[in-house]
Amino acid sequence: MWNEIKSNIFSALVYFREFILFLVLVVVIIFLLIEKLSLSLPLILLLLIVGIIILNLIGRRRIKEIDEIKNIISLIRQSKYQSSDEIVLTKHLSALENEIKEMFEKAKSDIEYLERLQRMRSQFLGNVSHELRTPIFSIQGYLETLLNGAIDDSKVNKHFLQKANQNTVNLSNLLNDLIDISMIESGEMRMSYRYFDINIFIQSIISEFVPMAEEKNIKLIFNPVKEGLQVFGDKDKLRQVFVNLLQNAIKYTDEGRIEILLDEEKKFVNISLKDTGIGIPEEDLNRVFERFYRVDKARSRAVGGTGLGLAIVKHIIEAHNSKIIVQSKQGEGSTFSFKLKK
Ligand SMILES: Nc1ncnc2c1ncn2[C@@H]1O[C@H](COP(=O)(O)OP(=O)(O)O)[C@@H](O)[C@H]1O
Ligand SMILES: [Mg+2]
Repeated sequence: MWNEIKSNIFSALVYFREFILFLVLVVVIIFLLIEKLSLSLPLILLLLIVGIIILNLIGRRRIKEIDEIKNIISLIRQSKYQSSDEIVLTKHLSALENEIKEMFEKAKSDIEYLERLQRMRSQFLGNVSHELRTPIFSIQGYLETLLNGAIDDSKVNKHFLQKANQNTVNLSNLLNDLIDISMIESGEMRMSYRYFDINIFIQSIISEFVPMAEEKNIKLIFNPVKEGLQVFGDKDKLRQVFVNLLQNAIKYTDEGRIEILLDEEKKFVNISLKDTGIGIPEEDLNRVFERFYRVDKARSRAVGGTGLGLAIVKHIIEAHNSKIIVQSKQGEGSTFSFKLKK
């Protein structure tokens, strides 16, 4: 009992200055009203006792409130709350309650974000190891078979070496794409924007791809628009975009044509690459830009794909403040398009 009163008063001493001021005020009033010292003394004594009782009450209230807050904070620290609705303080502390709730929500979403990041990181690492293992195992397999005697079999030896070689090419493509994507995602991709002639730029890339397309009997079509049309962008990075999109178009097209279309708008030039290939099923359309996502893994690997091409394309186009859009119908073909600033 005494201890409790002592700690209550001790707690209320935060308001000691206000308390003394109040006492002085009341004493002065008493002196002014009653001039006789003998009468005013007991009154002052009474006042002191009442004051101590009030101090005790204030202190008790204060300790209760602090305990309530301490308790909530400690429950948050121990992750005892599922949702912020469970956090309740006495009515007159509702402003504080709201602040605590917001802090709780913020901490919760920060933790969820970190967990998601952690999951993505492990997933990425898993994907990378898996993708590396496939070509390495193949190379190992072909080399072992050759060492075990196939090297003397003129019917297969060259074929096995070619297969092993193709896998080293795949491996090196994968490493290059991985380096690109890690540079981009860690923010180390340096962009260097300038104006350049889009017609000349596309024509030079197309001429590199003509032999590859002809080999598959695919027509590569590009009709330049307005001569001297300039667009604004990073030429090297955009070359990478075109190379990736053209490689895909050729890889995933068995016959027909690939067309690059330019459409001049007021402030932008809309660029589309249209093929008559195998197309992409609707349910995969918004996933093809994810790292390592392929509609048909076996086919992608067989044609030397890494599953990173479109992820790189998306990053580069977004760095140009633009957006890559895909439209496709299975069995009919796909169109990838994006805008560049004029
Ligand atoms: N022009 C296209 N036609 C059909 N499917 C495509 C085309 N471009 C991309 N895809 C699909 O999207 C997937 C992801 O493409 P990408 O990131 O370039 O990886 P990949 O290394 O497999 O080419 C491909 O595996 C393929 O399934
Ligand atoms: Mg690709």
